[in-house]
Amino acid sequence: MTTQQKKINAAKMALKRIRPGMCVGLGTGSTTNEFINLLGQKKQLLKTLRYASSSIQTEIFAKNYSIICEDIDQFDQLDLTVDGADEVSRHGDMIKGGGGALLREKMLASISKDYLIIVDDTKMVEYLGKFPLPVEIINFSPNTTINLLKRAFKKCNLDPEIVMRVNSDGSNVITDGGNIILDCHCEEISDPNLLKEKIEEIPNVITSGFFLNMLNSVFVGDEKGSTEVFFE
Ligand code: A5P
Repeated sequence: MTTQQKKINAAKMALKRIRPGMCVGLGTGSTTNEFINLLGQKKQLLKTLRYASSSIQTEIFAKNYSIICEDIDQFDQLDLTVDGADEVSRHGDMIKGGGGALLREKMLASISKDYLIIVDDTKMVEYLGKFPLPVEIINFSPNTTINLLKRAFKKCNLDPEIVMRVNSDGSNVITDGGNIILDCHCEEISDPNLLKEKIEEIPNVITSGFFLNMLNSVFVGDEKGSTEVFFE
């Protein structure tokens, strides 16, 4: 069983929640792409839906199925958003942003009635932090921001390596919003709520990859199929 098949299994579960006429938010990443591949087969259904996307990458991918994404400003509310995650803790907290789309993903989530997270079982963890925490910042004074971030981490007894996200040619990754990303290698984060607060009060920080207290459940794909795992 490949990881891709596990992602497809999780995506199938989300597809069952789609009803004609819905306004749907599309996340970013390989698992969301599997969801779009499945939706793409439902030719009649997909024509009845309206879409907003969390990245230019997803917008382009969706066009393969003639799915046209509208500007998020066209929607007061989305019926649901389907997205992946980099880590989901046993409390239902997440790290996202491995694909650099964290800001727009958070925007979609914040106007969605239902928020469906689809992951393969390797994404389920005890504590967040093995996956480097992305922090999206204004493209200005990265070194000062790193120093301020270090202070914030210290308040949470953490001393991560913080690295600028770069492309294969060494240039900085620039997000769809024109910002840059710092990846913070923490290993284990015991109090994500406190750390999120400390990070997000730094003036240059736009948002972090912490998506906390947002989930009632997650759709997990594994060898056998998929399971909806509920959180308290
Ligand atoms: C994109 O910025 C991320 O938040 C993705 O949702 C996350 O990286 C999951 O991607 P995969 O589905 O490719 O693992």
